[in-house]
Amino acid sequence: MKKILVTGAVGQIGSELTLALRERYGSDNVVAGGRKTEPSPQLRDSGPFEWVDCTNLGALNEAVKKYKIDTMYHLPALLSAVAEAKPQMAWHVNINGLYNALEVCREQGCAIFVPSSIGAFGLSTPLDNTPQDTVQRPNTMYGVTKVAGELLCDYYHKRFGVDVRGVRYPGIVSNVTLPGGGTTDYAVAIYYEAVKGNKFTCYLKEGTYLDMMYMPDAIKAGIDLMEADPSRLKHRNAFNVTAMSFAPEIIFQEIKKHVPDFEMDYQVDPVRQAIAESWPNKMDDICAREEWGWAPEYDLPKMTADMLKVLRERHARGDF
Ligand code: SER
Repeated sequence: MKKILVTGAVGQIGSELTLALRERYGSDNVVAGGRKTEPSPQLRDSGPFEWVDCTNLGALNEAVKKYKIDTMYHLPALLSAVAEAKPQMAWHVNINGLYNALEVCREQGCAIFVPSSIGAFGLSTPLDNTPQDTVQRPNTMYGVTKVAGELLCDYYHKRFGVDVRGVRYPGIVSNVTLPGGGTTDYAVAIYYEAVKGNKFTCYLKEGTYLDMMYMPDAIKAGIDLMEADPSRLKHRNAFNVTAMSFAPEIIFQEIKKHVPDFEMDYQVDPVRQAIAESWPNKMDDICAREEWGWAPEYDLPKMTADMLKVLRERHARGDF
């Protein structure tokens, strides 16, 4: 049985991935690692919880030893917009934190999952059907840390034999924990506003296409890749994975089918607009499909129906 540590377990992906891992591998076998934010009662009470800061190598090592961890899901990161506001901090968390995680996994013989992102691409990348292996010259600190991270992961596999695997996640849409400071966050916020009966003001321009994915598929990608037969993996890290591609007006129209009087206007944020324009419109994820059977379950209509159902229930309970 695996013994898993999820670092960044209180974040957008971690808060749901940890619960899914507990369901699959047994609650006692999945340690949630948080740094500062209080975990939800569900996350705290459904299995072991440990305060662990990934920028502290010693603390990370201790946690891995204490729980006899053999697999790590390493999720802490500053997202793209906040990384532009705090580039030094973004480097520290996204790179020094990852370096520490890889070092601990090398020393303790752990496997590790490391997410990269659509942010690892830039304006000189082909932005339509973005290939798995292509030009990567991002011009954001987030992108710089993601490309450096991809290379570091490949290096630790080749040089030290660490079983490190990862995907390039697109924007992740979810209904438990809000993302913080990303460029794709509008695609989450829009559902909350629709459910609250508010008008939504979008910070990206009409026509700005980006890859997106619903959380259940993001979780499936992380679990399936770590369970994949390694002999089939020609790539190890940074697999392109996508589930849908849309622009603000497309998701707005889809929500309007369920909320007919929903309204949206635009107030463009130049920082996030520039970031979005430098990212793929739609990635090609054929390598993930061929090498480990990646296939998403949710498209935009299916995701929208589920998001609205869940958020309406939460709104009725007074959660937001
Ligand atoms: N969702 C992330 C962001 O917008 C992309 O990986 O920063």
